Amino acid sequence: MSFNNKVIVITGASSGIGLAAALLFANKGAFVFNLDIIEPSYFHKKVLWLKCNVSDISDVQSSFAIIRTHTKRIDYLFANAGIYSEAPLIEMSSTTIDEIINVNIRGVINVLRITLPIMKAQKNGSVVLMGSDLSFVGRKNSSIYGATKGAIGQLTKSLSIECASVGIRVNCVCPGAIMTPLTKKAIKLEACEKKESASVIYKEIEKQIPLKRFGTSEEVAHVVAFLCSEKASYITGNLVSIDGGVVASQVDNCQYNSHVLKQIVHILGQNTLFFAHNQKNEASDESNVDKKNIVQLRSKL
Ligand SMILES: NC(=O)c1ccc[n+]([C@@H]2O[C@H](COP(=O)([O-])OP(=O)(O)OC[C@H]3O[C@@H](n4cnc5c(N)ncnc54)[C@H](O)[C@@H]3O)[C@@H](O)[C@H]2O)c1
Repeated sequence: MSFNNKVIVITGASSGIGLAAALLFANKGAFVFNLDIIEPSYFHKKVLWLKCNVSDISDVQSSFAIIRTHTKRIDYLFANAGIYSEAPLIEMSSTTIDEIINVNIRGVINVLRITLPIMKAQKNGSVVLMGSDLSFVGRKNSSIYGATKGAIGQLTKSLSIECASVGIRVNCVCPGAIMTPLTKKAIKLEACEKKESASVIYKEIEKQIPLKRFGTSEEVAHVVAFLCSEKASYITGNLVSIDGGVVASQVDNCQYNSHVLKQIVHILGQNTLFFAHNQKNEASDESNVDKKNIVQLRSKL
């Protein structure tokens, strides 16, 4: 896959997944504009850092004014910059809530509103937005972050339809646990809270991942490159999981719960089980039996 003479804007390419994507595209011949609040600690002759807070529209406008002095084209956009913070909804400060929403949603919209007219004028382009496994499922203490990533999933779908007629594809990558500075910080905090060592928390997380390991930034970057490339020319409006099977395994958990429910009903007494069996003739399938068990279980509790 070559990106010779292509131009990509990546937000948050000074660290983690964005950094891996910037180096991958640059090494394959693209010119990369990195819009980030922090200066990168690496140098690549095909990556230009522009200091930019994506949640501040005037900052984004100034960065694009500079980009336009270098190039008239923008072939790809990877709207990756994001922040994470966890706490129960009612305990999170309003300032933190605003920060997460402003970077993770408003920041993406700001960059899109300037990039899309340029892509529309050139009648092609490929956009990849940064979602998360939390675009699909919920997690304790992640309501606000999860809400922003759910929003990015919806943005991807509607925007892909709006943009299809003008030759722009819009997709979304949804990583699970990827080993980046953001993840290390989150694990450190959890370790502090649980009074455990970080390595215990790492192992706990790995155990829950079907592939039994964290993903790498490069594994996400390769999917972004594929989605931008011509090889993905018929893919738009997609949310692509890169999570070692985490989201798929949520279905397993539901089946497990259904099995557990049957065991609880059994332990609670033969009468309950008898009730469920008597109703079985009326039940058209297994799940109806489960529903009746739930009703009976509730009355016992
Ligand atoms: N690491 C994971 O496990 C994981 C999983 C799912 C989704 N994600 C998402 O991937 C993206 C990148 O995460 P990462 O793990 O590489 O994190 P990271 O902290 O290593 O990198 C994020 C980069 O974004 C930049 N950034 C933050 N706020 C910014 C702002 N207002 N304007 C411009 N740049 C800003 C940071 O300076 C940093 O360089 C985020 O959107 C995150 O939500 C990460």
